[in-house]
Amino acid sequence: MSPERTVREGQLRVLAPAKVNLVLRVLDRRSDGYHNLWSLMQTVGLEDELLLTVRPGSAGVTLHCDDPTLPTDSRNLAVRAADLVLERTGRALGLTIRITKRIPVSAGLGGGSSDAAGTIFGLNRLLGLGWSLDDMARVGEQLGSDVPFFFHGPSALVGGRGEVVTPLSLSGRRWLVLVHPGFPIQTKWAYDRLAASRRTVPPLSAALTRLGEQRNVAWDEVIPLMENDFEPALLPVHGELGAIKTELLEAGAEAALLSGSGATVFGVFRQEGEALRARDLVQRSKGRRTFAVLS
Ligand code: C5P
Repeated sequence: MSPERTVREGQLRVLAPAKVNLVLRVLDRRSDGYHNLWSLMQTVGLEDELLLTVRPGSAGVTLHCDDPTLPTDSRNLAVRAADLVLERTGRALGLTIRITKRIPVSAGLGGGSSDAAGTIFGLNRLLGLGWSLDDMARVGEQLGSDVPFFFHGPSALVGGRGEVVTPLSLSGRRWLVLVHPGFPIQTKWAYDRLAASRRTVPPLSAALTRLGEQRNVAWDEVIPLMENDFEPALLPVHGELGAIKTELLEAGAEAALLSGSGATVFGVFRQEGEALRARDLVQRSKGRRTFAVLS
């Protein structure tokens, strides 16, 4: 998980990173309504900042967030995460969470899930719970399919509905240009579109099967294998996503792909200078939010 710093007794700062999916295959639909996934996920250098403060002698979780569009009640995953931890530990204390939001929302970058993971991680430390990464991931999986990954990053293969996480070493760093088009995509809607747009599920390729057997892979091996099953389902509906992808490739990206169920598209670059130039080019279009970050 992310770096952390004790600000003072009873207070902890946690950095909760965004993720991208370098590969996202959505496989069969399961009897619980979820889909089995095959994904290669990677954290990136764009972080929300969480400040957790324990209030001994009081009760309840209070959330303050600098993004006024986000709910601060139990619809927010960070609040649900804190409630779950406090319920499990049976501790009668209050908690204040302050979130400085930098990761775009409903963007396929896992921001809400990372905030939830960061809250569990931070509370484990603040309250001296002694939970292992696996223990924390098991709590996190009750909150959302992307949450367990954040305990096992920076790079991991993700299966099941998101709870089967196998850490992986990914060698050879790359710069990523993240481009958010300025509109959100709801995950549930994207899965419905995907179901409506395909008749059969193509099997996992031999190359990805081989990749899944390795614990050390290089960026050079991954780049030719990058794919996301949501692209054929969503790009025809949102022309802007395909336009961003084309612009990133024309700006010199080695690969460009939708992240998660969108709406962020990212490009992969070898050099910082190339990434910064590409970011400057694509951010000329109105409404977009762009970031050049290290993987
Ligand atoms: O787990 P999470 O709350 O992030 O999932 C949101 C929605 O995405 C689910 O309600 C489901 O429709 C879809 N989903 C899925 N299979 C997954 C993960 C998510 O069908 N593995």
